[in-house]
Amino acid sequence: MDLNSYNVIILGTPVWWYTMTPPGRAFLKKYDLSGKVIIPFATNGGWLGTTLDDIKKYVPNSKVENELSIKFNEDTLAISEDTLNNWIEKL
Ligand SMILES: Cc1cc2nc3c(=O)[nH]c(=O)nc-3n(C[C@H](O)[C@H](O)[C@H](O)COP(=O)(O)O)c2cc1C
Repeated sequence: MDLNSYNVIILGTPVWWYTMTPPGRAFLKKYDLSGKVIIPFATNGGWLGTTLDDIKKYVPNSKVENELSIKFNEDTLAISEDTLNNWIEKL
């Protein structure tokens, strides 16, 4: 995958055992994302753990900003749709 023409990457991951999923981690480790802006969102059941800190750790030379935790109760969205829509608008 050629990411050269992308300056901003929106990266979504579910939270598994208080961190990001192995495929998400593999993606961050595989590509040189230096100098790019990473906007992470993490779906979860309320226990984010170290997910966002771990993402920052894997891309020390990227600018991680506008992160969003998207919490669910079972299959129901537990953050407001306004929060979600405002986040999308901001991006
Ligand atoms: C193996 C596994 C581990 C999980 N660990 C966490 C966790 O540590 N914290 C949390 O809030 N949710 C946890 N969850 C819930 C997932 O984050 C939730 O199912 C997911 O964000 C929803 O996306 P999906 O439809 O792809 O499963 C876990 C789910 C699975 C399957």
